[in-house]
Amino acid sequence: MPKWTLTLPPGLEPVALRELEGLGVRAKSTPGALLFEAELAAGALLARSLRTANRLSCEVLSGRARSLEELAAVVREADWRPFLRLRDEVELSTHTARSRLSRKDMVEKKVLNAIHDQLRGGGVRALPASRPHRQQRLQIHLEDDQLRISIDAGGERLGVRGWRQAQGKAPLRENLAASLLLLAGWDGDEALLDPFCGSGTIPIEAALLAAGRPPGTGRPYAYEAWPVLQGGAAPRPIPARRSVPAAPIVGSDRHGPALADAHQNAERAGVSIQLVQADVSEPPVPASAGLVLTNPPYGMRLGNQVAGVYRALGRALQGPLSGWRAMFICPDAELARLVSPRVFPITSFSNGGTRVTAWALDD
Ligand SMILES: C[S@@+](CC[C@H](N)C(=O)[O-])C[C@H]1O[C@@H](n2cnc3c(N)ncnc32)[C@H](O)[C@@H]1O
Repeated sequence: MPKWTLTLPPGLEPVALRELEGLGVRAKSTPGALLFEAELAAGALLARSLRTANRLSCEVLSGRARSLEELAAVVREADWRPFLRLRDEVELSTHTARSRLSRKDMVEKKVLNAIHDQLRGGGVRALPASRPHRQQRLQIHLEDDQLRISIDAGGERLGVRGWRQAQGKAPLRENLAASLLLLAGWDGDEALLDPFCGSGTIPIEAALLAAGRPPGTGRPYAYEAWPVLQGGAAPRPIPARRSVPAAPIVGSDRHGPALADAHQNAERAGVSIQLVQADVSEPPVPASAGLVLTNPPYGMRLGNQVAGVYRALGRALQGPLSGWRAMFICPDAELARLVSPRVFPITSFSNGGTRVTAWALDD
Protein backbone atom coordinates (compact mmCIF):
# COMPACT_ATOMS: atom_id res chain seq x y z
CA MET A 1 0.00 0.00 0.00
CA PRO A 2 1.45 3.45 -0.88
CA LYS A 3 2.83 5.52 2.03
CA TRP A 4 1.70 9.14 2.38
CA THR A 5 2.98 12.10 4.39
CA LEU A 6 0.90 15.14 5.27
CA THR A 7 2.95 18.11 6.52
CA LEU A 8 1.65 20.97 8.64
CA PRO A 9 2.95 23.54 11.14
CA PRO A 10 4.14 21.70 14.30
CA GLY A 11 1.59 22.26 17.08
CA LEU A 12 -1.43 21.60 14.86
CA GLU A 13 -1.00 17.80 14.54
CA PRO A 14 -4.02 16.88 16.72
CA VAL A 15 -6.41 18.99 14.65
CA ALA A 16 -5.10 17.52 11.36
CA LEU A 17 -5.30 14.03 12.85
CA ARG A 18 -8.98 14.60 13.66
CA GLU A 19 -9.57 15.96 10.17
CA LEU A 20 -7.97 12.86 8.62
CA GLU A 21 -9.96 10.57 10.91
CA GLY A 22 -13.12 12.35 9.78
CA LEU A 23 -12.16 11.42 6.22
CA GLY A 24 -11.77 7.78 7.24
CA VAL A 25 -7.96 7.70 7.44
CA ARG A 26 -5.97 6.56 10.47
CA ALA A 27 -2.54 8.19 10.69
CA LYS A 28 0.53 8.24 12.92
CA SER A 29 1.50 11.66 14.25
CA THR A 30 5.12 12.91 14.27
CA PRO A 31 6.23 16.55 14.83
CA GLY A 32 5.02 18.52 11.80
CA ALA A 33 3.84 15.47 9.85
CA LEU A 34 1.18 12.75 9.80
CA LEU A 35 2.03 9.41 8.20
CA PHE A 36 -0.52 6.99 6.75
CA GLU A 37 -1.12 4.39 4.06
CA ALA A 38 -3.76 4.67 1.34
CA GLU A 39 -4.35 3.51 -2.22
CA LEU A 40 -3.13 5.99 -4.82
CA ALA A 41 -6.51 7.35 -5.95
CA ALA A 42 -7.90 7.63 -2.40
CA GLY A 43 -4.72 9.27 -1.09
CA ALA A 44 -4.52 11.75 -3.95
CA LEU A 45 -8.17 12.76 -3.50
CA LEU A 46 -7.30 13.92 0.03
CA ALA A 47 -5.27 16.79 -1.51
CA ARG A 48 -8.60 18.29 -2.57
CA SER A 49 -10.38 17.78 0.74
CA LEU A 50 -7.79 18.56 3.41
CA ARG A 51 -8.15 22.01 4.95
CA THR A 52 -5.36 21.87 7.54
CA ALA A 53 -2.40 20.50 5.51
CA ASN A 54 0.55 22.37 4.02
CA ARG A 55 1.49 19.53 1.68
CA LEU A 56 0.58 15.93 0.92
CA SER A 57 3.07 13.58 -0.73
CA CYS A 58 3.29 9.95 -1.76
CA GLU A 59 6.47 7.94 -1.29
CA VAL A 60 7.81 6.63 -4.61
CA LEU A 61 10.89 4.83 -3.29
CA SER A 62 13.21 4.25 -0.38
CA GLY A 63 16.58 2.53 -0.27
CA ARG A 64 20.25 2.79 0.65
CA ALA A 65 22.37 5.26 -1.35
CA ARG A 66 26.01 5.41 -0.23
CA SER A 67 27.32 6.33 -3.69
CA LEU A 68 25.98 7.98 -6.82
CA GLU A 69 25.89 4.57 -8.53
CA GLU A 70 23.84 3.05 -5.69
CA LEU A 71 21.52 6.08 -5.78
CA ALA A 72 20.98 5.77 -9.54
CA ALA A 73 20.22 2.05 -9.20
CA VAL A 74 17.58 2.65 -6.48
CA VAL A 75 15.92 5.40 -8.53
CA ARG A 76 15.92 3.29 -11.72
CA GLU A 77 14.41 0.32 -9.88
CA ALA A 78 11.36 2.31 -8.80
CA ASP A 79 8.37 2.50 -11.14
CA TRP A 80 7.96 6.16 -12.13
CA ARG A 81 5.39 5.56 -14.86
CA PRO A 82 2.36 5.94 -12.55
CA PHE A 83 3.50 9.47 -11.69
CA LEU A 84 5.55 10.98 -14.51
CA ARG A 85 5.74 11.18 -18.26
CA LEU A 86 8.98 11.64 -20.09
CA ARG A 87 8.40 15.31 -20.84
CA ASP A 88 6.99 16.42 -17.47
CA GLU A 89 8.74 19.30 -15.77
CA VAL A 90 10.02 18.35 -12.34
CA GLU A 91 10.83 20.68 -9.45
CA LEU A 92 13.09 19.24 -6.74
CA SER A 93 13.26 19.97 -3.03
CA THR A 94 16.26 18.21 -1.49
CA HIS A 95 17.34 17.61 2.08
CA THR A 96 20.55 15.76 2.98
CA ALA A 97 22.01 15.04 6.43
CA ARG A 98 24.71 12.73 7.82
CA SER A 99 25.19 11.06 4.44
CA ARG A 100 28.16 10.25 2.23
CA LEU A 101 26.33 12.00 -0.63
CA SER A 102 26.10 15.55 0.64
CA ARG A 103 26.19 17.63 -2.55
CA LYS A 104 22.59 18.41 -3.40
CA ASP A 105 23.40 19.43 -6.98
CA MET A 106 25.05 16.08 -7.73
CA VAL A 107 22.27 14.09 -6.02
CA GLU A 108 19.59 15.99 -7.97
CA LYS A 109 21.34 15.58 -11.32
CA LYS A 110 21.74 11.83 -10.74
CA VAL A 111 18.10 11.44 -9.65
CA LEU A 112 16.79 13.28 -12.72
CA ASN A 113 19.00 11.27 -15.10
CA ALA A 114 17.99 7.97 -13.49
CA ILE A 115 14.26 8.86 -13.71
CA HIS A 116 14.75 9.78 -17.35
CA ASP A 117 16.47 6.42 -18.04
CA GLN A 118 13.68 4.52 -16.32
CA LEU A 119 10.88 6.30 -18.17
CA ARG A 120 12.62 5.78 -21.53
CA GLY A 121 13.33 2.13 -20.70
CA GLY A 122 9.64 1.65 -19.97
CA GLY A 123 8.79 2.84 -23.48
CA VAL A 124 6.67 5.77 -22.29
CA ARG A 125 5.35 7.90 -25.12
CA ALA A 126 6.15 11.60 -25.07
CA LEU A 127 3.13 13.89 -24.65
CA PRO A 128 1.94 15.62 -27.83
CA ALA A 129 3.50 19.10 -27.99
CA SER A 130 0.04 20.72 -27.92
CA ARG A 131 -0.68 19.35 -24.42
CA PRO A 132 0.37 21.76 -21.67
CA HIS A 133 2.93 20.37 -19.25
CA ARG A 134 2.07 20.14 -15.60
CA GLN A 135 4.86 20.69 -13.13
CA GLN A 136 5.53 17.90 -10.65
CA ARG A 137 7.41 18.37 -7.39
CA LEU A 138 9.68 15.70 -5.91
CA GLN A 139 11.02 15.71 -2.38
CA ILE A 140 14.42 14.01 -2.06
CA HIS A 141 15.31 13.06 1.48
CA LEU A 142 18.73 11.57 2.19
CA GLU A 143 19.57 10.93 5.83
CA ASP A 144 22.15 8.47 7.22
CA ASP A 145 22.67 7.24 3.62
CA GLN A 146 18.98 6.27 3.40
CA LEU A 147 17.23 7.75 0.38
CA ARG A 148 13.50 8.46 0.23
CA ILE A 149 11.80 10.20 -2.68
CA SER A 150 8.20 11.38 -2.55
CA ILE A 151 6.00 13.09 -5.09
CA ASP A 152 3.79 16.01 -4.05
CA ALA A 153 0.10 15.42 -4.78
CA GLY A 154 -0.68 19.14 -4.74
CA GLY A 155 2.32 20.63 -6.57
CA GLU A 156 1.60 24.09 -5.16
CA ARG A 157 1.12 24.14 -1.35
CA LEU A 158 -2.37 22.96 -0.35
CA GLY A 159 -2.75 26.13 1.76
CA VAL A 160 -2.90 28.07 -1.50
CA ARG A 161 -6.59 27.68 -2.37
CA GLY A 162 -6.75 29.68 -5.58
CA TRP A 163 -9.34 32.27 -4.44
CA ARG A 164 -7.05 34.56 -2.42
CA GLN A 165 -5.56 36.77 -5.09
CA ALA A 166 -6.10 40.02 -3.17
CA GLN A 167 -4.37 40.32 0.20
CA GLY A 168 -3.03 42.93 2.62
CA LYS A 169 0.23 43.16 4.56
CA ALA A 170 -0.11 40.26 6.98
CA PRO A 171 -2.52 37.65 5.62
CA LEU A 172 -3.08 34.44 7.54
CA ARG A 173 -2.33 31.27 5.57
CA GLU A 174 -5.58 29.70 4.49
CA ASN A 175 -4.81 26.29 6.03
CA LEU A 176 -4.04 28.01 9.36
CA ALA A 177 -7.40 29.78 9.26
CA ALA A 178 -9.11 26.42 8.65
CA SER A 179 -7.04 24.78 11.40
CA LEU A 180 -8.13 27.47 13.88
CA LEU A 181 -11.80 26.96 12.96
CA LEU A 182 -11.45 23.22 13.57
CA LEU A 183 -9.38 23.81 16.72
CA ALA A 184 -12.20 26.00 18.07
CA GLY A 185 -14.66 23.18 17.32
CA TRP A 186 -16.62 25.44 14.94
CA ASP A 187 -18.90 23.47 12.62
CA GLY A 188 -21.07 26.09 10.90
CA ASP A 189 -24.03 25.95 13.28
CA GLU A 190 -22.71 28.82 15.42
CA ALA A 191 -22.40 32.51 14.37
CA LEU A 192 -18.87 33.55 13.50
CA LEU A 193 -17.24 36.99 13.63
CA ASP A 194 -13.71 38.01 12.65
CA PRO A 195 -13.36 41.68 13.68
CA PHE A 196 -9.87 41.98 12.08
CA CYS A 197 -10.75 40.12 8.89
CA GLY A 198 -8.26 41.77 6.50
CA SER A 199 -8.55 39.95 3.18
CA GLY A 200 -11.30 37.73 4.61
CA THR A 201 -9.35 34.50 5.07
CA ILE A 202 -11.10 33.31 8.25
CA PRO A 203 -14.73 34.05 7.20
CA ILE A 204 -14.16 32.64 3.68
CA GLU A 205 -12.62 29.42 5.04
CA ALA A 206 -15.54 29.26 7.48
CA ALA A 207 -18.12 29.58 4.70
CA LEU A 208 -16.41 26.83 2.66
CA LEU A 209 -16.28 24.60 5.74
CA ALA A 210 -19.93 25.27 6.61
CA ALA A 211 -20.98 24.45 3.05
CA GLY A 212 -18.92 21.23 3.07
CA ARG A 213 -17.18 22.52 -0.03
CA PRO A 214 -13.57 21.59 -0.84
CA PRO A 215 -11.18 24.39 0.21
CA GLY A 216 -9.47 24.89 -3.19
CA THR A 217 -11.38 26.49 -6.02
CA GLY A 218 -10.18 26.58 -9.61
CA ARG A 219 -6.63 25.61 -8.76
CA PRO A 220 -4.85 22.61 -10.31
CA TYR A 221 -3.47 19.71 -8.27
CA ALA A 222 -0.33 17.94 -9.49
CA TYR A 223 -1.94 14.49 -9.06
CA GLU A 224 -4.47 15.34 -11.78
CA ALA A 225 -1.65 14.83 -14.31
CA TRP A 226 -0.37 11.51 -12.86
CA PRO A 227 -0.73 8.94 -15.66
CA VAL A 228 -2.02 6.32 -13.19
CA LEU A 229 -5.04 8.49 -12.37
CA GLN A 230 -6.15 9.22 -15.92
CA GLY A 231 -9.49 8.01 -17.23
CA GLY A 232 -11.68 5.95 -14.88
CA ALA A 233 -9.06 5.99 -12.10
CA ALA A 234 -9.33 9.76 -11.61
CA PRO A 235 -10.75 10.57 -8.17
CA ARG A 236 -14.06 12.44 -8.18
CA PRO A 237 -14.54 15.66 -6.17
CA ILE A 238 -16.83 15.51 -3.16
CA PRO A 239 -20.33 17.04 -3.57
CA ALA A 240 -21.22 20.07 -1.42
CA ARG A 241 -23.22 19.40 1.78
CA ARG A 242 -25.26 22.57 2.03
CA SER A 243 -25.02 25.94 0.37
CA VAL A 244 -26.68 28.46 2.73
CA PRO A 245 -24.80 28.88 6.03
CA ALA A 246 -26.92 27.88 9.05
CA ALA A 247 -25.58 30.82 11.07
CA PRO A 248 -24.19 34.26 10.10
CA ILE A 249 -20.54 34.44 9.05
CA VAL A 250 -19.23 37.99 9.36
CA GLY A 251 -15.91 39.71 8.77
CA SER A 252 -15.19 43.30 9.78
CA ASP A 253 -12.14 45.52 9.52
CA ARG A 254 -11.63 49.26 9.92
CA HIS A 255 -9.58 49.47 6.74
CA GLY A 256 -11.66 49.96 3.56
CA PRO A 257 -9.10 48.57 1.08
CA ALA A 258 -8.78 45.37 3.16
CA LEU A 259 -12.55 44.90 2.92
CA ALA A 260 -12.40 45.46 -0.84
CA ASP A 261 -9.87 42.60 -1.00
CA ALA A 262 -12.14 40.44 1.16
CA HIS A 263 -15.11 41.14 -1.17
CA GLN A 264 -13.10 40.12 -4.23
CA ASN A 265 -11.79 36.99 -2.54
CA ALA A 266 -15.26 35.94 -1.32
CA GLU A 267 -16.60 36.38 -4.83
CA ARG A 268 -13.81 34.28 -6.32
CA ALA A 269 -14.41 31.59 -3.68
CA GLY A 270 -18.13 31.67 -4.48
CA VAL A 271 -19.24 32.20 -0.88
CA SER A 272 -21.62 34.72 0.56
CA ILE A 273 -20.43 36.25 3.82
CA GLN A 274 -21.25 39.57 5.46
CA LEU A 275 -18.44 42.13 5.34
CA VAL A 276 -18.69 45.32 7.39
CA GLN A 277 -16.35 48.28 7.77
CA ALA A 278 -16.00 48.80 11.52
CA ASP A 279 -13.45 49.49 14.21
CA VAL A 280 -13.12 46.68 16.76
CA SER A 281 -14.48 49.08 19.40
CA GLU A 282 -17.87 49.05 17.60
CA PRO A 283 -18.08 45.60 16.08
CA PRO A 284 -21.09 44.19 14.20
CA VAL A 285 -23.10 41.87 16.46
CA PRO A 286 -24.88 39.39 14.19
CA ALA A 287 -26.23 37.12 16.99
CA SER A 288 -26.52 36.99 20.76
CA ALA A 289 -23.81 34.32 20.97
CA GLY A 290 -21.18 32.79 18.72
CA LEU A 291 -17.45 32.48 18.11
CA VAL A 292 -15.11 35.44 17.66
CA LEU A 293 -12.15 33.96 15.78
CA THR A 294 -9.51 36.42 14.75
CA ASN A 295 -5.94 37.30 13.88
CA PRO A 296 -5.41 40.77 15.38
CA PRO A 297 -2.44 42.90 14.33
CA TYR A 298 0.54 41.97 16.47
CA GLY A 299 3.25 44.47 15.98
CA MET A 300 6.12 42.53 14.44
CA ARG A 301 4.64 42.85 10.98
CA LEU A 302 2.29 45.80 11.41
CA GLY A 303 4.00 48.39 13.65
CA ASN A 304 4.06 48.62 17.44
CA GLN A 305 0.92 50.62 18.33
CA VAL A 306 -1.20 47.56 19.00
CA ALA A 307 -1.80 47.40 22.77
CA GLY A 308 -4.87 49.66 22.42
CA VAL A 309 -6.33 47.30 19.82
CA TYR A 310 -6.13 44.35 22.24
CA ARG A 311 -7.74 46.38 25.03
CA ALA A 312 -10.50 47.38 22.59
CA LEU A 313 -11.09 43.72 21.65
CA GLY A 314 -11.35 42.91 25.36
CA ARG A 315 -13.90 45.70 25.93
CA ALA A 316 -15.96 44.50 22.94
CA LEU A 317 -16.00 40.96 24.37
CA GLN A 318 -17.20 42.29 27.72
CA GLY A 319 -19.71 44.70 26.12
CA PRO A 320 -21.56 44.18 22.78
CA LEU A 321 -20.10 40.69 22.31
CA SER A 322 -20.64 39.39 25.84
CA GLY A 323 -22.07 35.90 25.48
CA TRP A 324 -19.61 35.14 22.67
CA ARG A 325 -16.64 32.84 23.12
CA ALA A 326 -13.35 33.86 21.51
CA MET A 327 -10.15 32.50 20.05
CA PHE A 328 -7.36 34.64 18.65
CA ILE A 329 -3.69 34.24 17.73
CA CYS A 330 -0.93 36.36 19.21
CA PRO A 331 2.82 35.80 19.75
CA ASP A 332 2.99 37.69 23.03
CA ALA A 333 1.35 36.59 26.31
CA GLU A 334 1.36 40.15 27.69
CA LEU A 335 -0.55 41.45 24.66
CA ALA A 336 -2.96 38.51 24.80
CA ARG A 337 -3.73 39.20 28.50
CA LEU A 338 -4.72 42.77 27.61
CA VAL A 339 -7.84 41.18 26.05
CA SER A 340 -8.64 39.52 29.36
CA PRO A 341 -6.64 38.06 32.27
CA ARG A 342 -8.83 34.94 31.76
CA VAL A 343 -7.40 34.01 28.32
CA PHE A 344 -5.74 30.59 28.21
CA PRO A 345 -3.31 29.11 25.64
CA ILE A 346 -4.52 26.25 23.42
CA THR A 347 -1.48 25.54 21.25
CA SER A 348 1.46 27.28 19.56
CA PHE A 349 2.60 27.09 15.95
CA SER A 350 4.49 29.08 13.34
CA ASN A 351 2.60 31.73 11.35
CA GLY A 352 4.78 32.98 8.49
CA GLY A 353 7.95 32.45 10.55
CA THR A 354 6.58 33.97 13.81
CA ARG A 355 5.77 31.65 16.70
CA VAL A 356 2.19 32.42 17.74
CA THR A 357 -0.16 30.99 20.34
CA ALA A 358 -3.88 30.39 19.88
CA TRP A 359 -5.54 31.95 22.95
CA ALA A 360 -9.10 31.14 23.98
CA LEU A 361 -11.62 32.90 26.18
CA ASP A 362 -14.84 31.26 27.30
CA ASP A 363 -18.07 33.27 27.23
C1 LIG B 1 -3.08 40.63 10.86
S1 LIG B 1 -4.23 41.50 9.86
C2 LIG B 1 -5.50 40.31 9.58
C3 LIG B 1 -5.20 39.50 8.36
C4 LIG B 1 -6.32 38.58 7.95
N1 LIG B 1 -6.47 37.48 8.89
C5 LIG B 1 -6.04 38.06 6.55
O1 LIG B 1 -5.85 36.85 6.37
O2 LIG B 1 -5.97 38.88 5.62
C6 LIG B 1 -4.97 42.61 10.98
C7 LIG B 1 -6.09 43.45 10.42
O3 LIG B 1 -6.62 44.24 11.50
C8 LIG B 1 -7.10 45.46 10.95
N2 LIG B 1 -7.19 46.43 12.08
C9 LIG B 1 -6.17 47.03 12.75
N3 LIG B 1 -6.67 47.78 13.75
C10 LIG B 1 -8.02 47.64 13.73
C11 LIG B 1 -9.08 48.17 14.54
N4 LIG B 1 -8.84 48.99 15.54
N5 LIG B 1 -10.34 47.77 14.26
C12 LIG B 1 -10.60 46.93 13.21
N6 LIG B 1 -9.62 46.44 12.41
C13 LIG B 1 -8.36 46.79 12.67
C14 LIG B 1 -6.09 45.82 9.88
O4 LIG B 1 -6.68 46.67 8.90
C15 LIG B 1 -5.72 44.42 9.32
O5 LIG B 1 -6.49 44.14 8.17
